[in-house]
Amino acid sequence: MGKIIVIYHSQQFGDTKALAGSLAEGAREAGAEVELIGTNERRVRLDEFLAADAVALGTPDYFSYLAGTMKSFFDDIYLWDKSGEPVKGKPAVLFFSHGGGGRVKEPFEYLARKFFEQLGETIESKRPTGDEAKERCQALGAKLAKKVEKKEIGI
Ligand SMILES: Cc1cc2nc3c(=O)[nH]c(=O)nc-3n(C[C@H](O)[C@H](O)[C@H](O)COP(=O)(O)O)c2cc1C
Repeated sequence: MGKIIVIYHSQQFGDTKALAGSLAEGAREAGAEVELIGTNERRVRLDEFLAADAVALGTPDYFSYLAGTMKSFFDDIYLWDKSGEPVKGKPAVLFFSHGGGGRVKEPFEYLARKFFEQLGETIESKRPTGDEAKERCQALGAKLAKKVEKKEIGI
């Protein structure tokens, strides 16, 4: 069974958390083992990051950029990489919530490209989080789970 970590920041209304939950649900239904980590509750540890086959990353748009704790997560990966840890190249999917701007998309994808192999399109959701965005997250979670499963059996 493939292991996926859904890593997200959510603080203001729970919008990003709702998207993270839908994505996790889709991945679980497709057979993956899924863990959710809220980066504004705690930091992601190197050992759990290395143990994951794939990740899903979610942030709200804060000042047209990533939320601080999600940026810190990218800083950690950079430093892990520099210290020789094999952190690069995991499959990843991206999602974000915003209040009408949504300009975080570009810096988010830019940072993700440095360390991950992005799967599918970034999911953008203007708040309040609606069913359509949740369904898209669920489908993306299932897609990620299937990718991880195929890798495991060598397809
Ligand atoms: C500090 C702060 C800065 C924000 N900056 C932006 C912004 O630049 N553009 C935008 O579209 N929304 C912005 N928002 C709105 C949030 O992206 C939006 O409310 C989001 O859905 C919150 O997600 P959450 O409930 O998961 O925390 C900002 C919100 C906060 C708290």
